[in-house]
Amino acid sequence: MAYTPKLYTARDFSSLKGLTAISDDQIAEHLKLYNGYVTRTNKAHETLAAMLNDGKTGTPEYQEIKRRLGWETNGILLHEYYFENLTPGGSAAAGTSFEGKAAAQFGSFDAWKTDFASTAKMPGIGWVIAYLDNNTGNIVNVWITEHEMGHFAGAKPLLVLDCFEHAWTAYLKPTQKLQYLEDFFANVCFKTASKRLG
Ligand SMILES: [Fe+2]
Repeated sequence: MAYTPKLYTARDFSSLKGLTAISDDQIAEHLKLYNGYVTRTNKAHETLAAMLNDGKTGTPEYQEIKRRLGWETNGILLHEYYFENLTPGGSAAAGTSFEGKAAAQFGSFDAWKTDFASTAKMPGIGWVIAYLDNNTGNIVNVWITEHEMGHFAGAKPLLVLDCFEHAWTAYLKPTQKLQYLEDFFANVCFKTASKRLG
């Protein structure tokens, strides 16, 4: 029997409007990019399955699509975490389990936030993820280069920040990353981060 892969369906984030500072147009443009990752990931799976079914797995084309699969798939998954952890005006950290854990580990919630923001200020394109390292139980703020370099295997993403310039250049200049960070924190849903913490 031929292999037929299960494909991704783009989730509907169209209700994500009215964020503080981050314009609706910015989110609309960003969602177009997200949808592109869904389309390309599905195409990659379909092409790889066809090649497997046709006995063409030894080809350079097969290998190049395999190399790209992590990029495309994380383009879906990381955007979904990011959109999910935004809500208009944000949801306060105070009193949440995320705040409690971050404060206990870093000495204060502000120290965690400084570490997260300092990671985000690093030059380059990628993501910042506050990961729960299941081995140590620590929250670790991790820089991800592009979509796929730097992840901790098996770790749980608690808070995800898109640090590609496309995340703010529909409403800010490319040099205004610090403003974008401020705007991100104005809309972070710490309820969601706490729910992920479990
Ligand atoms: Fe993005």
